[in-house]
Amino acid sequence: MNICVIGTGYVGLVTGVIFADLGNEVICVDKLEAKVEQLNRGEMPIYEPGLEELVQRNAEEGRLTFTTDLDGAVRKSEIIYICVGTPPREDGSTDMSQVEGAARGIAAAMDRYKVIVNKSTVPVGTGSFVREVIETNRRRNVDFDVVSNPEFLREGSAIQDALNPDRIVIGAPNQIVALKVLELYAPLERPMIITDVASAELIKYASNAFLAVKISFANSIANICEAVNADVIQVMKGVGQDRRIGPAFLNAGLGYGGSCFPKDSSSLLHTAQSVGYDFPILEATIKTNDEQPKRFIKKIEKELGGFKGKKIALLGLAFKANTDDMRDAKSLDVIAAVLAGDGEIVAFDPIAMENCKKIFPQITYAKSAFDAAEGADAAVVVTEWNEFKQINLEKLKAAMKGSHVFDGRNLYDPEKMRRAGFVYHGIGRTS
Ligand code: UGA
Repeated sequence: MNICVIGTGYVGLVTGVIFADLGNEVICVDKLEAKVEQLNRGEMPIYEPGLEELVQRNAEEGRLTFTTDLDGAVRKSEIIYICVGTPPREDGSTDMSQVEGAARGIAAAMDRYKVIVNKSTVPVGTGSFVREVIETNRRRNVDFDVVSNPEFLREGSAIQDALNPDRIVIGAPNQIVALKVLELYAPLERPMIITDVASAELIKYASNAFLAVKISFANSIANICEAVNADVIQVMKGVGQDRRIGPAFLNAGLGYGGSCFPKDSSSLLHTAQSVGYDFPILEATIKTNDEQPKRFIKKIEKELGGFKGKKIALLGLAFKANTDDMRDAKSLDVIAAVLAGDGEIVAFDPIAMENCKKIFPQITYAKSAFDAAEGADAAVVVTEWNEFKQINLEKLKAAMKGSHVFDGRNLYDPEKMRRAGFVYHGIGRTS
């Protein structure tokens, strides 16, 4: 099939390369010329394991191309995927200007029947909105259908998630168009859900919000654990063994970050409030998530007797492991608080340092975790990179001046840390 993908961010790039890898002819469109040139050279604008190799191979074999020419790409394609950014506005609602821009572009170029698919995470009602924009702006009286096909991939494991989704959701106005989109996924042999457009749109938001609820719940239990001397890892292990609950997304830590959960939970809350419903569970989830890093920072400040003159080794910067994404990363809260308290930060992250330098150029960036720990009063772990999990504790202790380790991701065994001579502080762990 001939497919056009508008937007070469996470979702667009991964969607495009997966469809190309399944044998389709895919044209990826982006309005940023420099980004398109970069992609045509085989260079990735984001760090994502496995992406570069897959893009290069499919581009070399001629199934995947990158262009700024939206008109040409739309004309050549039967199915057009909208994968543009949907950033949050100040009030928590979603900025739909890029979706509208893409819809206008499609409307201007359409010369025959097209299937237009929303894959960006968009509020309920976007299907009708895109339909309206295209109807009012199309130059020729050609027919089209608008479908919702939300994406459930996670950064850091995007290729694997896109190839092995738990389910493929297609929201379509009729069975014929649903089957057309479904055909694209047939080789994956995964469970399919065909529904109406609004329900498909809500499945995406409800899924992300539910996962956010699970995380905030685990963090709330962690906060109780700290007060009653229980261990949140043991508690959540026991809870997650119940098949009705499941073990996933019950890891307590600094709260959820990244480009999806914070934005999507606020957007769903905004949608709920706009139809007169408060959605108290979601409100509490967001509040809990906002408070979690603040509690952690307060604990560090208290244990160290303030940040003034203190050197903090920050291990990890990205919002989670296997990505260079700094959006809503909890490291940003830690850095801001330490700097505001006249402390010093020496940070190390295997991939995200370049992106962090754009936000905090004034802190010191180290070559390794040990380099960062040199002479530090405390080490603070914020990202669960594999290389930190079995770090040489003796070497870390020898490099540091102080002995406090604040583990925002619960990577270490408290007992082992104590034996290694550290004063260890996890999240919801026995102390
Ligand atoms: C999330 C969803 O998992 C994807 O299914 C969805 O497609 C994506 O959002 C999206 O809407 O585009 P992502 O944000 O890439 O994916 O990363 P996750 O692995 O879900 O982690 C999100 C945040 O939750 C991270 O900050 C992570 O550290 C935190 N988290 C996750 C926890 O604190 N505890 C957990 O148990 C799990």
